[in-house]
Parts: sequence; structure tokens; C-alpha cells
Amino acid sequence: MNEWLQCISCERRYDAAEVRYTCDDCGNLLSVERDTILDRDAFDDRRTSRAAIDQSGVWRFREGVMQAETIVTHPEGATRLYERQGIFFKHEGENPTGSFKDRGMTVAVTQAVRVGATAVACASTGNTSASLAAYAAQAGLRAIVFVPAGKVASGKLAQTLAYGATALSIRGDFDAAMRLVREACDRLGIYLVNSINPFRIEGQKTIVWELLQDLQWEAPDWIVVPAGNLGNTSAFGKAIREAHAHGWIAKKPRIASIQAQGANPFFRSWSESFATRHRVTAETVASAIRIGDPVSYEKAVAAIRDTDGVVEEVTDEQILAAKREIDGMGIGCEPASAATLAGLKKLRAAGTISDRARVVCVLTGNILKDPDANYRPENIVEIDPTLHAVERVLA
Ligand code: F0G
Repeated sequence: MNEWLQCISCERRYDAAEVRYTCDDCGNLLSVERDTILDRDAFDDRRTSRAAIDQSGVWRFREGVMQAETIVTHPEGATRLYERQGIFFKHEGENPTGSFKDRGMTVAVTQAVRVGATAVACASTGNTSASLAAYAAQAGLRAIVFVPAGKVASGKLAQTLAYGATALSIRGDFDAAMRLVREACDRLGIYLVNSINPFRIEGQKTIVWELLQDLQWEAPDWIVVPAGNLGNTSAFGKAIREAHAHGWIAKKPRIASIQAQGANPFFRSWSESFATRHRVTAETVASAIRIGDPVSYEKAVAAIRDTDGVVEEVTDEQILAAKREIDGMGIGCEPASAATLAGLKKLRAAGTISDRARVVCVLTGNILKDPDANYRPENIVEIDPTLHAVERVLA
């Protein structure tokens, strides 16, 4: 089977083993492409296999993800699909480091090893850095992460440091960190694993493939996903396009990409039928998606167009209210993930998504990632150590 890198706009091809992220000719992003049609039955058979490679919800789909002889896997994926109040929730917070990033990182770090990298880097709002740190530790690579100073949730930073990464705390926002890491990797020969790395996208496609498999390949009407740097929106578009082309699903689910109102460049562009690419200075309580200049913009535009998708924005209040609802279902998630339910409510109220539609919300990060967002002081009652005090509270 053939596997190569291809420019998403001029379609120039490059060898899959080359270290590159953009096209020499037109400067646009690259994607990994293959020329084979894959049969989904083999993927179903692997669900009951005990081999680590099949237990991984990424490598179970290996023929459609990456051809590699030695892989760096935890394993990851194989997350649960919950049904609550008639809505499906695919909980990517159940991955080894607590976010969906592990699905892309297992592939990107496998590629890093394949191309002989000794150091790997990313810019991050916290989850990518935690995931990179863990996979780099496993592979024995040096990890350097560029994070916006003071803007990363404490659980994520703690993980990143504990796994042994060097954190460069950038005096600036995520977008500044992103620009800097691109320049640094370019100049210093460090392997970059942000989602402009096309192998990240290949791994993240399996969120969609696995949820389709969870639903016995009966595609839902909608898949709702939070949108920041737009790697996931891009990956979902590619996953749906390929699943449909391979004949795994009869109809394409539509993507609903949800942004925080204070970090909404993609929503702004969508509102103008993508006439202009917007950039904003981002601010939101959902620190994971505090991003003003998403790198995977062009791929995400293609994903929305190709799936007849929509982009929506929600306020911080709506995000936090939705988080309480998801937490109250006993599932729990970090704030960015709750943008999905908040967005679904808004799209239902507008009549864009019907109440009868089958919907999967993708919860991207674990409830413990952002402890500050979970603090509900009204639920703590300090008392004297007496039964009487207990009775008084319960009365
Ligand atoms: N949800 C969570 C929990 C995230 O960590 C991210 C991105 C997103 C949603 C948005 O996904 O960027 O693919 O549109 N986190 C990145 C990081 C930026 O550095 O951890 P996206």
C-alpha cells in the first residue's frame, strides 16, 4: 500500500518520511493520503483481540492511520460512548493522559521515531503538552513545550512537568507560543507535533471511526466538537470523508464545530461563508480553546463544507452551565468539552438540529484537568465533629 504527503490545495506530493508541514510551492498544509479501499470488518474483529495494538482505538484502524513497523502506543482510545438524556457522549477524557490528544500523539511520536528525531516540541494550552510529555517519555525523546504563561489549567501543567518535559512559559498567548515553536523547530531541527503535523490528524480521525464502530456503523446525524486550533474539526472531516469513500457508512454525519464567543475566529469566518480568515485576541474561561489564530483553518473549512456542517459560538456562562449539567450526569469534563452541549442546545433552539436527530457530543478532556473550574464552594460545609452538626446540615 502507498502512503504519501499531499498539499491540500495544489495537490503536490511528498514522501511520507519527509519532515515537512507545508507545501514548498503554495505554502498550504499537507495531509497524509493513501490509495487503497479498506474493509471495515477487519476493524470489528480486532475489538475482541487481546493484542495491545488491537486494544488501541487508534492502531485498530492502522491501515487507515499509518504504516509503521515500530509503534509508540499506551494503548490509547477505546473510550466509552455514553447515552444520557437521548444524547451520546464520546468521552475522550478517558484516554491515558486524560484528553483526545493521545490519539494524535501516538501517531506523531511514532513518526518522530521513524524520522530519527531526538527532540519533539509543541505549543499548547495544556493537553497537547501533557500528551506529548507522556509519549516522549515512553519513546525516550526530549520534550519541549511552549505554553502561555499563567494560562494553563493546573492539572495539565502538573502532568506535563511530571512526565519530564521542559516547559517554556511564554510571556504571550497561545498564538504567540505557536508562532515561536514553528520558528524554533524550523531553525533548531526539533520535530514539531502540533496538529499542523499531518500525522496528528491521522490519529485523531479514529475518534470518529471508533464512535461509528460503537454505533454499529449507523452514522449519527450530527457530531458536535469544540473548536480551538481546529485540528479536531479537520480530522473529523477527513475521517467522515474517508469512511464514506470506503463504504463504511451510508450517509455522512454533519459536523457542528463550537467555539467560545471570546475566541471565535472560525465562527466569524463561517458567518461570512468563509469569505475572510479572521484572527482575534482570544479570551475565555475554557482555557483549552483560548486560541485566536487557528493553524488548521483551511482543513477545517473543507471539513465544514464537505459535511454540510455548521459553526456556532457560545458564551462562557453557557459553557459553565453545560459543564454543570455534564458533571451532574456523573460523566464530567473540562470546560472546553462542555462547549459541545452548550452549542447543541443553541443549535436545537435555533431549529438547526432537530430534537429527534441522533447526536454525538465529543467530550475532549477529563474533569480533573482544570480543578479550578470544578470548585463549588456552596457544596462544602465545615462542621464540628459531632452527630448533632451533621443532623443540622441534613435537616
Ligand atoms: N478540547 C480540549 C480539551 C482541548 O485541549 C482542545 C485543544 C480543544 C478542545 C480544541 O481542539 O485545537 O483541535 O480545535 N487543545 C490544544 C492543546 C490547543 O494545546 O492542548 P482543536
